[in-house]
Amino acid sequence: MVNRKGIQVVHLNKKGTKTIQGDDTKKLLNYIDGEWCESSSGKFVDVLNPANGKILGEVTQSTDEDVNRAVQAAKKAQKEWRLVPAPERAEYLYTIAALLKERKEELSQILTSEMGKVIDEARGEVQEAIDMAYYMAGEGRRLFGDTVPSELRNKFAMSVRVPIGVAGLITPWNFPIAIASWKSFPALVSGNAVVWKPATETPIIAYEFAKIFEEAGLPKGLLNLVNGSGREVGNAMVEHPDIDLISFTGSNEVGSAINARAGELLKRTSLEMGGKNAVIVLDDADLDLAVDGILWGAFGTSGQRCTATSRIIVHQDAKEALETKLVERIGELSLGDGANEKVKVGPVINRSALGKIHEYVKIGLEEGATLLAGGSMVTDSGLVTGNFYAPTIFTNATVDMRIAQEEIFGPVVSIIPVNSLEEAIEVNNSVEFGLSSSIFTSDVNLAFQAMRDLDTGIVYINAGTTGAEIHLPFGGTKGTGNGHRDSGVAALDVYTEWKSVYVDYSGKLQRAQIDNY
Ligand code: UN1
Repeated sequence: MVNRKGIQVVHLNKKGTKTIQGDDTKKLLNYIDGEWCESSSGKFVDVLNPANGKILGEVTQSTDEDVNRAVQAAKKAQKEWRLVPAPERAEYLYTIAALLKERKEELSQILTSEMGKVIDEARGEVQEAIDMAYYMAGEGRRLFGDTVPSELRNKFAMSVRVPIGVAGLITPWNFPIAIASWKSFPALVSGNAVVWKPATETPIIAYEFAKIFEEAGLPKGLLNLVNGSGREVGNAMVEHPDIDLISFTGSNEVGSAINARAGELLKRTSLEMGGKNAVIVLDDADLDLAVDGILWGAFGTSGQRCTATSRIIVHQDAKEALETKLVERIGELSLGDGANEKVKVGPVINRSALGKIHEYVKIGLEEGATLLAGGSMVTDSGLVTGNFYAPTIFTNATVDMRIAQEEIFGPVVSIIPVNSLEEAIEVNNSVEFGLSSSIFTSDVNLAFQAMRDLDTGIVYINAGTTGAEIHLPFGGTKGTGNGHRDSGVAALDVYTEWKSVYVDYSGKLQRAQIDNY
């Protein structure tokens, strides 16, 4: 239901979903074993619109007791689900894809109001979830393993993917529906059940997403939504003996703590964490195109992407011209509520993010970088109750500066001048992260050299650092992750074990490696 202001009104009740809670505030509950329920804690936390600070709803704060109930439901449901033929499992994903498509606009508006990204980007994100649903539904008819010739006569050898059990998913607020889809769809199509903790900042889109699984008729217990903090719910998930794997997207600090504990428990983890992505601009680049790529990569989603462009490594000979064009163009980036179609840059997620971004700007100035544009919070009338930061560009940064090494997760980018492609690659690779990189050049030989030598999981040629498509692996090297990938067929490796099966139909003992030599 959409009210006259275009704001979606959802009223939730204990039974399912709908209870009257004031005008258009939402009371966001857990979804456990096919039931909508409050946490045993009785505690709720407000959900705010980052563009204006208005309260959109309140979300239940769960305990380890809630996590345990969700895990028990998941474990029970998975016992039957693993026996459902994968093409039949995939049928639910096709239905989910169709529902997402049908509700794309409504979901995009909710996403913008809760997370802040501009409406066009929200539409793009919902589309990413739709794409992932169709793609993983297709996997229901593939889930390829290998069949190989046996070294012995009358013997058959093959490998099959088997589900692991209960997957614990912990997802961030910056891509709250896309990343939830990257994880939940491959988990389900390959026969697992899911316990999902969305970010506390974005429970409304999480509610809508879970509601779609419910509407699609997914058997109860297969998708359980448990709202709450990382400290409480996330920890309980990691500790729970019946959660077999954790797939996490978020900060390095939390990711490595999860990994350390999961390591002790011999629990699989798939971690997707920070980035410090660079655009390299060589002196033969199409500078207008590079500026387009930089502005989109650095200031899209207000720089709050793991893939955001946060460094510009530019050849000395192109530096001045690039800077002039960037400064000319940055004025086009109108700030405001992302629900307004004309706005180009929305708010950042909350006050604490705003403070952290501003701290980094101060650090950059102290370190001796030169501010080319931005550098302050925006408190113009109409924006004062929101969390707005001006798109910011530093120049004359050096590779060792903190603003050139650490993830800021906001609309701040630093220009680092270099003298050659080799130096550019060295600078690119000098950070602890390795998610995405990009190079603008018109020389195909240099492009291929860069493709080979840039140490990141994603490389773009003549495009910015964002814009990954769901049918290729998403993830990074070094401190960005732990070798696993979200999306693409590679995601299945997170949610399945390999089982190698040998069928000997010779009717006699055949000793491998011995009888045939
Ligand atoms: C993220 O930044 O956490 O490539 C995900 C992109 C998007 C996904 C970003 N398709 O920027």
